[in-house]
Amino acid sequence: MEKRKIGNSGLTVAPLAFGGNVFGWTIDQATSFTLLDAFTEAGFNLIDTADVYSNWVPGNQGGESETIIGNWLKQSGKRDKVVIATKVGGEMSPGKKGLSKAHIRQSVEESLQRLQTDYIDLYQSHYDDPATPLEETLETYGELIKEGKIRAIGASNYSAERLAEALQVSKQNNLPRYDSLQPEYNLYSRANFEKELEPLCRENNIGIINYFSLASGFLTGKYRSEADLAKSKRGQGNKKYLNDRGFRILSVLDKLAKQYATDQARIAIAWLIARPSITAPIASATRPDQLQSLIQAANVPLDREAIDLLDKASAE
Ligand SMILES: NC(=O)c1ccc[n+]([C@@H]2O[C@H](COP(=O)([O-])OP(=O)(O)OC[C@H]3O[C@@H](n4cnc5c(N)ncnc54)[C@H](OP(=O)(O)O)[C@@H]3O)[C@@H](O)[C@H]2O)c1
Repeated sequence: MEKRKIGNSGLTVAPLAFGGNVFGWTIDQATSFTLLDAFTEAGFNLIDTADVYSNWVPGNQGGESETIIGNWLKQSGKRDKVVIATKVGGEMSPGKKGLSKAHIRQSVEESLQRLQTDYIDLYQSHYDDPATPLEETLETYGELIKEGKIRAIGASNYSAERLAEALQVSKQNNLPRYDSLQPEYNLYSRANFEKELEPLCRENNIGIINYFSLASGFLTGKYRSEADLAKSKRGQGNKKYLNDRGFRILSVLDKLAKQYATDQARIAIAWLIARPSITAPIASATRPDQLQSLIQAANVPLDREAIDLLDKASAE
């Protein structure tokens, strides 16, 4: 399996990450274990989660995804075979959020406990926190690295301006720097990443682990009408893609799926894996057959013509 470096962090990962927001949301612990076993047995190692997953589900409080991953790490004995990426800063309960020293220090202990491990490989700022000085956040991460509680840090949902500022602060103060960025990026949502963030990350050798690689399932081709939105608990979130541009992208995915004798999900992920700036797209699955399709994407090298067709159909 090809392994890629995440920025200058020293972490190396296979070119697809499993997205853990489904654990405790659209799938239970038993199914989560089955999928994590299959994912790692196929040679993949990067698992992405966040402290807040999945607190939007009625009855949940946040921490459910990390708890399931922690139980799986204990049961499988695979802690040293995987790269665990989690996040801090999202709102766990009213007011309990952000990137202050106090909140990070408390949150890291809670995440470590739920994950049943003594270190987090990649600790990510879930959202920018303009109310906390970047120095305070980066100094706190520096302490956690020295204490061995985290190995590297990443940013998610940062603007290019703020990411550049954070890199500057790290350099000027001899503090750890963000070695990865987790932006939304897929065939449907392109411009926001490609315009400023992508060149900034390439210039600074920052690894990209992008989320919503399948646009929440839309790029699999299963949502083509409002009636289709009932196909999943999360189907309603796909309504925004049902428009001319969305259908234009699907029609090229349909064509290429036929040409490569595969399915649309594989083509959508293969397009991301082929992009030079991308380290590992993050996608999730709720069934073993879906997962097979995603992990096979690493074996679908798209030719230039296919990439050009997708680029053209999805241009914003
Ligand atoms: N940093 C952030 O702010 C942020 C935000 C969002 C997500 N993320 C990360 O990105 C990860 C991925 O996001 P996501 O799961 O929301 O989006 P996604 O990867 O775009 O969509 C995955 C969903 O599509 C469906 N699917 C997958 N493979 C399929 C196939 N072959 N055929 C048909 N349907 C298929 C499944 O849902 P159904 O079976 O339910 O249809 C699956 O859960 C998250 O788990 C999380 O780690 C980060």
